[in-house]
Amino acid sequence: MSDTYQSILGLRAIRDYEDQPLSRDDLDRILEAARWTGSSKNRQDWSFLVIEDQDGLDALAAHGDFTQPIRDSAATIVLVQEPGGNMFDMGRAAQNIMLTADSIGVASCPITLHRSDDARDHIGAPAGAVVKYAVALGYPADGAEPRQYGGRKPAGEVVKRGSY
Ligand SMILES: Cc1cc2nc3c(=O)[nH]c(=O)nc-3n(C[C@H](O)[C@H](O)[C@H](O)COP(=O)(O)O)c2cc1C
Repeated sequence: MSDTYQSILGLRAIRDYEDQPLSRDDLDRILEAARWTGSSKNRQDWSFLVIEDQDGLDALAAHGDFTQPIRDSAATIVLVQEPGGNMFDMGRAAQNIMLTADSIGVASCPITLHRSDDARDHIGAPAGAVVKYAVALGYPADGAEPRQYGGRKPAGEVVKRGSY
């Protein structure tokens, strides 16, 4: 079994981080993985806004309802879908960010910015941009564990063959 397969099956949202900044190399590797994500028609209609200062993290966190991981993170990457962009592409970029982070010992958690228009205005993105998701990042705290939400639905429930 490939390491990639194990990483995909083992990837969990981790919300408890060390109080330590990410190294420049680690952050750059994660951003490089985001940048190299495939997108529809290779349009790359995205920006990846990195926030590392505590005031900036706290201010961003105000735009969602379950955003404590942003406040606790060493860095959060805001996924900015530029006007004309495609949410499917943003999801791919988010997963690449998370898998790359995991591969270099960085924990992560996807975060919803429920008040996405406010988030867009707050960061200064243009009208038509969608600023709905972010990924919180940090070195995992000692003993950090995923929250258990009951695993996954069984394959028999979600996999259909031939017809719905
Ligand atoms: C699109 C999306 C949005 C999410 N938003 C939040 C969030 O706002 N706050 C949070 O703590 N976790 C958030 N999560 C994490 C999920 O709760 C978590 O991935 C899910 O419960 C499964 O847990 P696991 O990834 O550890 O297996 C989000 C996940 C996704 C995919």
